[in-house]
Amino acid sequence: MTEILRCENVLVSFGGVVACNNITLGITEGKIIGLIGPNGAGKTTLFNVLTRFQDADTGSLYFRGADIGRLKPHDMASMGMTRTFQNINLFAEQSTLDNILIGAHHLIGNPFANMFGLPRARKNERKLIERARQIAEMLRLEDQLNNEVKNLPYGVQKRVEMARALASNPEIILLDEPVAGCNEEETADLKEIIQHVNRELGITVFLVEHDMSMVMSICDYIYVINFGANLAEGTPAEIQSNSDVIKAYLGEEDET
Ligand SMILES: Nc1ncnc2c1ncn2[C@@H]1O[C@H](COP(=O)(O)OP(=O)(O)OP(=O)(O)O)[C@@H](O)[C@H]1O
Ligand SMILES: [Mg+2]
Repeated sequence: MTEILRCENVLVSFGGVVACNNITLGITEGKIIGLIGPNGAGKTTLFNVLTRFQDADTGSLYFRGADIGRLKPHDMASMGMTRTFQNINLFAEQSTLDNILIGAHHLIGNPFANMFGLPRARKNERKLIERARQIAEMLRLEDQLNNEVKNLPYGVQKRVEMARALASNPEIILLDEPVAGCNEEETADLKEIIQHVNRELGITVFLVEHDMSMVMSICDYIYVINFGANLAEGTPAEIQSNSDVIKAYLGEEDET
C-alpha cells in the first residue's frame, strides 16, 4: 500500500498555544481517512500545514515520499493535492462555473497562447469548460452553473467548493468539515458524493468532520488527535470502542 501523504512530528505553536504537538500520521492512497478530535484539537492547523498555508515550527511533510516542507500553497494543485476550507471560501460574486474554473487554473496551459487568444488556447478553454460541466453534473450543480454563488443555499455552496477542488484533477483531496452546517439531506448528498469521488475517480480523501455517524460510516481508517497530539488511530470500530477517545469526547461534553 502506497502512502500518498505523510507528516512526522509536526509542531505548531501560536504564542503560548501549541496547536499541533508532534503529530505523526500517514495517508494510504485510495482510502477515505478521517481526522477527528474535540474543538481546538489542531485539526485545521494540521490541514493548513499539510497544504502549506501554515509553516510548522518543526517536523517533516512528504508527498509520495518527497519532502514538501518548503512548498507553497500554490504548488499543491499541480502536485495533485487540493482542499476545501472549514469556512466556505468561494468568490461569492462570481458564478458557479467561474468558481469551478478557478480550481482548474493550473491546467490552463501556456499563458501567452491564452493572452493572444490563439486557437490552441481557445480549444483548451473549451475543454476546461466541458470538464467543469462534467464535474458540476457529478455534484448535481448543472442547474446552478450561471448563478452567483452568494445566492445559493449553504449546502449547495459546500458542493461548489468541492467541485472547485475537484477541477484541479487531484490525487488527494483534504476536506475540512465538509458537512458542517448542512441539514440531513445535504449531509446525505455530500456523503454520497465523497464516496463517489473516492470509489469512481480513485481520489484519496482525508477529511476532518465532527459528524460522527458520517465519519464512522464513510472512513476506512481514522486518526484521533487531542490537545494537538496523536491520541488514537484505527478502524471506525476500533475508534468507537477506544476508551481514550471516549474520554476525550466526554470531557468536551462536560465543559459545554
Ligand atoms: N492563527 C492562529 N493564531 C492563534 N491561535 C490559533 C490560530 N489558529 C489556531 N489557533 C489555536 O490553535 C488551536 C487549534 O486550532 P484548530 O483550528 O487547528 O483546531 P480544530 O481542531 O480545527 O478545531 P475545530 O474543530 O473547532 O475546527 C486552538 O487553540 C486555536 O485557538
Ligand atoms: Mg477546524
